[in-house]
Amino acid sequence: MVPASALADESAAAYQFRLVEYNFPLIWGLAIQMYESTLVADDSRVDQFLEGNSSALTAREQLGKSIFEGKGKCIACHDGAETTGASVNNVVNAQELLERMIMGNDGIAVYDNGFYNSGNTPCAGLQADDTQGPCDDLGLGATIGPLNLPLSNSRFFQRSENIAQAPPIAVRPDESPLLADPQPLDPFERVAVDGAFKTPGLRNIELTAPYFHNGGILTLRQVVDFYNRGGDFARVNQNNLDPNIVPLGLTAAEKDALVAFLMAFTDERVRYEKAPFDHPSLCVSNGAMLDNHTAVADPTAPGKATPVTKCVPPVGRLGLAVPDKNFLNTPPVPTSVNVQPALSVQPGGLTFSTSVGIQPPVQLLQISNQGGGSLAWSATDTRSWLSLDITSGVAPSSPVVLVNAIGLAPGSYTGTITITAPGVTGSPVNVSVTLTVVALKPGFPLVP
Ligand code: HEC
Repeated sequence: MVPASALADESAAAYQFRLVEYNFPLIWGLAIQMYESTLVADDSRVDQFLEGNSSALTAREQLGKSIFEGKGKCIACHDGAETTGASVNNVVNAQELLERMIMGNDGIAVYDNGFYNSGNTPCAGLQADDTQGPCDDLGLGATIGPLNLPLSNSRFFQRSENIAQAPPIAVRPDESPLLADPQPLDPFERVAVDGAFKTPGLRNIELTAPYFHNGGILTLRQVVDFYNRGGDFARVNQNNLDPNIVPLGLTAAEKDALVAFLMAFTDERVRYEKAPFDHPSLCVSNGAMLDNHTAVADPTAPGKATPVTKCVPPVGRLGLAVPDKNFLNTPPVPTSVNVQPALSVQPGGLTFSTSVGIQPPVQLLQISNQGGGSLAWSATDTRSWLSLDITSGVAPSSPVVLVNAIGLAPGSYTGTITITAPGVTGSPVNVSVTLTVVALKPGFPLVP
């Protein structure tokens, strides 16, 4: 603590910093940078799979991977080992710092690679008449500092004093013939940066809810639903919206697979805070005891309130036995969506036809669980001529349906098979069975 006498010293010497003090922020910053550069979470199951261990991902996670790279369009923005286009790799390679794209409402715009307006908060952006449309948060489109300099590189290099230093923009003929010719940045060309945010990497994403810059989305399943519905403010943001933000048409099973794949990005050393992700105790000041109306005097500092500190306990290199809970203890997939079983029976009706005294061929029912968890079923039927080879089981099951037509007179018969799974969505299912028995034609040879 600074002694009171030092505060009273107003001589010139008391206002000087020593060299080590001047350099302290630099040395401190470098030390933290060096330490952080040792924390690379590159041993997730996705990494193991990409390194050639084909059993590191389950079949469902591999399906999620193919949706990530295909139907889900995630890879357009979450690309490369960093799972983001806003990577050091792309910035170092100056050809990738700025890019052009074909916008959702057609036309070409230049933008900062890796930063996208994905329609999660309303931001209409710069309008044709040069006024700003309604916008919750300009994000990358904002300006800062006393000089009001643009945060975005696209706009920064468009300024007359910087245009000569603008990096080249790579051609992308694979995306569109309109992007095939090399064109330097034009100071007046359209930019798509208003309401754009940095694409975050997705490593250990399971551990870091809530999601998006405003924490507006709580679970990974909800993130996937967000993309599946084509964002929340696609229409108002159209001017700046990335063209990959469109309804995706993912099925429930595809969404679950995508979430499973995202969860395979967890490096278990991070989850358990094992070396190199172990750490000493870290304490931060958290205000003063009690609230802003009442304080407890600090006996060691007259006239001051007793400070409160919060500490993260230390963790050794072997890590925690039980990992820390997620923020708000949220599961990545809401249990109501994934774990509830749901009964499905196919087909909805069966039709048998035969001649007097002849057995019709057997048919199959497919009983399946369209939800999660386990589904036990049992079956009953309403007719003596109708039977199933198994009358209970755990889905998926394929009971054989038999019809005993021996002794039945010509005519039309109906019955019902009922599949029940108590308390399960979709239960019970009634399958109607129709049997037609026709008279033998005269002279038809009876097969023994
Ligand atoms: C148009 C580019 C783009 C596409 C396509 C895209 N993302 Fe994103 N993603 C972003 C941006 C930008 C953010 C940050 C948004 C914000 O903070 O407001 C983000 C954020 C996320 C987050 C939250 C990260 C965090 O730490 O908060 C997850 C999870 C995610 N995306 C997964 C996906 C998945 C899965 C897909 C495919 C279905 C996908 N993204 C498709 C650009 C994209």
